[in-house]
Amino acid sequence: MQIVKRSVSVVVATLGLVVGVNAFAHGDVTPQAIDISGLEPLKDSTVWLDTNPYSGNERAIEIGHAAYAQNCARCHGIDGVSGGIAPDLRETLPLGAEGDEFFKERMINGAIRNGVTYMPKFDGIVAQEGLWSIRSWLESVSVDAPPKEEKKEDKKEETKSEDKPEDKK
Ligand code: HEC
Repeated sequence: MQIVKRSVSVVVATLGLVVGVNAFAHGDVTPQAIDISGLEPLKDSTVWLDTNPYSGNERAIEIGHAAYAQNCARCHGIDGVSGGIAPDLRETLPLGAEGDEFFKERMINGAIRNGVTYMPKFDGIVAQEGLWSIRSWLESVSVDAPPKEEKKEDKKEETKSEDKPEDKK
């Protein structure tokens, strides 16, 4: 099974260039495969881990952002900003093991009640590595995430020059 999975990801890797384009986010109706190249694969991706093995992993965050855009954004909103169709995952998922558990449960079961699919399940359709990558990205944009020091650096100048007193009426 490993071999099959691996060759699938090779094919996916060659298609990987299309990943990351938000423009398609609302058009996708079926779960999309994810390019996980550059990420250390799990020993057995068919066995679910309880916690995210890629938490804080930069490559995983990058993969996860694109994979989210392809698979989740049409319901949960572009870049995680929910338009109200589905929960805003920046707010509803706690950081760490607690959020990992909710996340895993949803990936395995989706949200299906009385025969109605509110959210499809992704387990078995998207590799576990790719799903945990989405979780890594979600943690990075969580309302509880610590501020990113390095990334702020380039914006500092900008804010300073914009630092003029506000008009008061
Ligand atoms: C077809 C629309 C749809 C897609 C696609 C979708 N979701 Fe959802 N998701 C929902 C809805 C609707 C809910 C709320 C379900 C409920 O009412 O139980 C939900 C709930 C969740 C929850 C639980 C949140 C909470 O606060 O309880 C998580 C986690 C989640 N989704 C993650 C994802 C991820 C990750 C993806 C992409 C891999 C995804 N979803 C794709 C519609 C979707």
